Amino acid sequence: MNAEAEFSGRVVLVAGAARGIGLACAEAFAARGATVALADIADEGLDDAAARLSATTTAANSSHQVDLGDAAAGTGLVAEIIAAHGRIDILVNAAGLLMTRPFLELEPAEWDRVNGVNARGGVFLAQATARQMVAQGSGGRIVLVASLVARRPVRLDNVAYSASKAAILQAATCMALELAPHQITVNVVSPGSTATEMLLEDQLGGGADARERALQGDLATWRLGVPLGRLAEPADQAAATVFLAGDGARHITGQELIVDGGQAVV
Ligand SMILES: NC(=O)c1ccc[n+]([C@@H]2O[C@H](COP(=O)([O-])OP(=O)(O)OC[C@H]3O[C@@H](n4cnc5c(N)ncnc54)[C@H](O)[C@@H]3O)[C@@H](O)[C@H]2O)c1
Repeated sequence: MNAEAEFSGRVVLVAGAARGIGLACAEAFAARGATVALADIADEGLDDAAARLSATTTAANSSHQVDLGDAAAGTGLVAEIIAAHGRIDILVNAAGLLMTRPFLELEPAEWDRVNGVNARGGVFLAQATARQMVAQGSGGRIVLVASLVARRPVRLDNVAYSASKAAILQAATCMALELAPHQITVNVVSPGSTATEMLLEDQLGGGADARERALQGDLATWRLGVPLGRLAEPADQAAATVFLAGDGARHITGQELIVDGGQAVV
């Protein structure tokens, strides 16, 4: 198979595409011939990402500003993509909001925002996309990005975020069952520690030693080290996503692919 053309003629919606793992996914699909619709809440980052992509591809990519925390965000976004491209073949949701707080101080509003973006936002974006795919009648691929913390508490102060990722994981399994008759697969990529701003700045507070602290683990706050001895790069998560969206994964649905350098086995 010609890797360059693997996704030629297909439209991929990537949410959370302004930076990090979502941007790496957008780049990976574009490099394989897809037309990519980039969506994110971050207006400025989105423009940069779209410009960067346009410099490396000839496809008519598009960018769409959206807050997945809005109840109607999924429906509105899908309508925009259809207006721009006429169809959606693949959805990747890499948008995610991390908000850490010690459990004893967690506020209902923080729980609502994190779960509103990560869990409800992801589910209803998948629903809006799946409705469109069903109408198109030619199947589809949905890849939702959860996290290693859906199953195990890697760090302290992370109740709301971890629960939101567990919700996505189980929701994806249920979606896979209901969408199978329509030849729409639904799978999850669960990243372990990945070298993005979310990890190095938001979780570890930045600094020259942030990578090393993530690698070694720390009993006080950061429970796991990484057995393979390196942090994942966004491209590692994109590779798993491309696989699950590709022809080689046509018989895989309702699965979680954990990309974590062995963190889950310690
Ligand atoms: N980096 C890690 O170590 C790691 C580990 C496990 C899971 N994840 C998950 O991977 C995904 C990508 O994370 P990342 O590390 O690239 O983080 P990131 O913060 O670099 O990127 C997340 C993107 O989501 C966007 N976003 C946030 N809230 C949004 C909203 N309400 N509506 C639309 N877009 C919104 C952000 O603007 C950003 O561009 C997330 O779902 C995250 O939870 C990351």
